[in-house]
Amino acid sequence: MARGRFITVEGGEGAGKSTQAALLTQALAARGLDVVQTREPGGAPGAERIRSLLLAPASPPWSALSEALLHFAARSEHLVFTIRPALKSGRWVVCDRFVDSTVAYQGYAQGLERGIIERLSRLVVGDDMPDLTLILDIAAEPGLARLKTRGAPNRYDEMDLAFHERLREGFLEIARAAPERCVVINAEAPIEVLHRAILDAVIERLEVPGGA
Ligand code: TMP
Repeated sequence: MARGRFITVEGGEGAGKSTQAALLTQALAARGLDVVQTREPGGAPGAERIRSLLLAPASPPWSALSEALLHFAARSEHLVFTIRPALKSGRWVVCDRFVDSTVAYQGYAQGLERGIIERLSRLVVGDDMPDLTLILDIAAEPGLARLKTRGAPNRYDEMDLAFHERLREGFLEIARAAPERCVVINAEAPIEVLHRAILDAVIERLEVPGGA
């Protein structure tokens, strides 16, 4: 049984990741692939419990290190119980956020030393890095404006504009450092145009049955 492929969708707030992850999952399934759509923090029962802790509006202000440790604890559950078994059985995995979110949020935006995140990543993720990471790029201001139309904000949505600008720069820097894994896509485009750009990038980088 050939191992499945692992695709992550990343980006700041209001970039439309969740919608695009769902559209990509449907498009790949329509091409005959067995696809699991999942998300972080979350994607496994223990990880969803940690998600509730992390995103509760009344959460205490965690230190960046504690916050990263919680995200990696959730990620460990997610890898052990969801991602690795799926990939091993030949299924494709489309994941809304993964380790790049920790680098961007806790590293670039909250100032946690990158070496710490790299060590945690080696321990928890090991060789199971994504085959392809789609970075949905949107400027901080239009991203935040879109969020306002989305309903109840989570704790991270409420951070200031400078935080979101550091975040965006972080994601772009991650993409520059790993061009073999990452593709940056302009997320200011309308939903259907963005979906097509994402699907084209997946078809170009990975072997998709039925191609374009
Ligand atoms: P969302 O994916 O529904 O937007 O919410 C998840 C929030 O958690 C988002 O604001 C980003 C944040 N986050 C981190 O700060 N670090 C991480 O490692 C992950 C996966 C998410």
